[in-house]
Amino acid sequence: MSIGIDLISFYTPAFFFSLDDLAKQRVVEAKKYTVGIGQKEMSILPPDEDVVTMGANAAYSLLEKVDKSRIKALIFATESSVDQSKSAGLFIHKLLDLPRHCRVIEMKQACYSGTFSLRAAMGLVSLDQESQALVITADVARYELHSAGEATQGCGAVALLVSSQPRLLQIDSESAYISEDVMDFWRPNYRSTAIVDGKYSTRVYLQALNECWQKYAELSKRLPENIHHFCFHLPFTRMAEKALKQLFRCKEDFQSRLRKMRPGLLYNETVGNSYTASLYLNLCSLLDFSEHNLAGQRIGLFSYGSGFVAEFFSGIIQNGYSQHLFNELHTRLLANRKRLSYAEYLEFYHYALPENGKTSHNPCFTQGRFRFAGVNAHKRLYEQTQHKMS
Ligand code: CAA
Repeated sequence: MSIGIDLISFYTPAFFFSLDDLAKQRVVEAKKYTVGIGQKEMSILPPDEDVVTMGANAAYSLLEKVDKSRIKALIFATESSVDQSKSAGLFIHKLLDLPRHCRVIEMKQACYSGTFSLRAAMGLVSLDQESQALVITADVARYELHSAGEATQGCGAVALLVSSQPRLLQIDSESAYISEDVMDFWRPNYRSTAIVDGKYSTRVYLQALNECWQKYAELSKRLPENIHHFCFHLPFTRMAEKALKQLFRCKEDFQSRLRKMRPGLLYNETVGNSYTASLYLNLCSLLDFSEHNLAGQRIGLFSYGSGFVAEFFSGIIQNGYSQHLFNELHTRLLANRKRLSYAEYLEFYHYALPENGKTSHNPCFTQGRFRFAGVNAHKRLYEQTQHKMS
């Protein structure tokens, strides 16, 4: 049965903070961030956006190309939830005018839940092969100011349409996954920023990759050489180098794989970490920027969600895939972002909604089609803007 990713599109807000500027403020050599961590910029969330608006904006362009009545499920993956009870997907269901006969749910397990959502969507589509499922991954990576994690912030959303006979990536049947209770990164309910043991989290990530790869290799009988391109969860793009080093012990193979990865890193190095969306942003970047025709090539994908759950799986790029990409839209989105000054970065960082649910109106900043307008009687209010985006 052929099931996988039929379309992919992403969204990130129209504001970024440069890592060069952050380095100046933190009195750190810029190369530590741009080379050592591998990040150039990080997208910054304005006051009138959240995971709902980012997710709706990511899916909007994609939905213009499909028959929405076939979508029987919207699975929303995030660790930056806006409500303890209601799925953020329901706001998106309304904003995108999705069919009434469509299931909506929100998934959480740090950065991994997008991958579980993809697998769940594949399961639903396999039960009714005429149907499609929309998976939306959206997150805001926020750490304490002046912390080591600050340089690895960012935000964005990726929407995936899952169907039978997919036009982009047919997912292979083999996949390897593991779970373990560790405290490498977490965010208690009372905090707006994550707590992280940075070095430990990096070590656990690489151990999880190693273990998942061994299991995947055993199941599929494939070697790293049989995978044409790798995509990874990228908390920062230097992680790709660390991950490839695990898989390719020979220096020359490793170097050539690192060069091959470049197109896949372009979005992540300017958006920053987008948690659940990060792996799929890497995939989107590879598809949008690869100079070679990728049709028929096998992509290996490694998903890691702190805490932790990890999975390695793969898929084959489909013939004609390049006709179904949104690369021009994505390039425009990034090119039109505004560089924030340090004072503006702090202003956006500190913006907070009243915690008592009182009526509040958010100032207009977004350049996206959907906006988080404010709160009334504890209810979040969303609205369409005049911005076209596409
Ligand atoms: N030029 C070039 N490189 C330089 C440099 C310079 N001037 N100065 C330092 N570097 C290098 C260092 O040698 C180091 O390289 P290695 O990794 O090869 O050792 C690199 O830059 C980073 O320097 P430090 O290790 O000193 O950096 P740090 O301790 O300040 O923080 C971090 C790095 C731990 C990743 C931190 O940014 C962090 O905690 N980030 C958040 C947590 C995270 O992203 N964890 C990843 C795994 S968990 C996960 O994947 C889930 C998730 O999304 C959070």
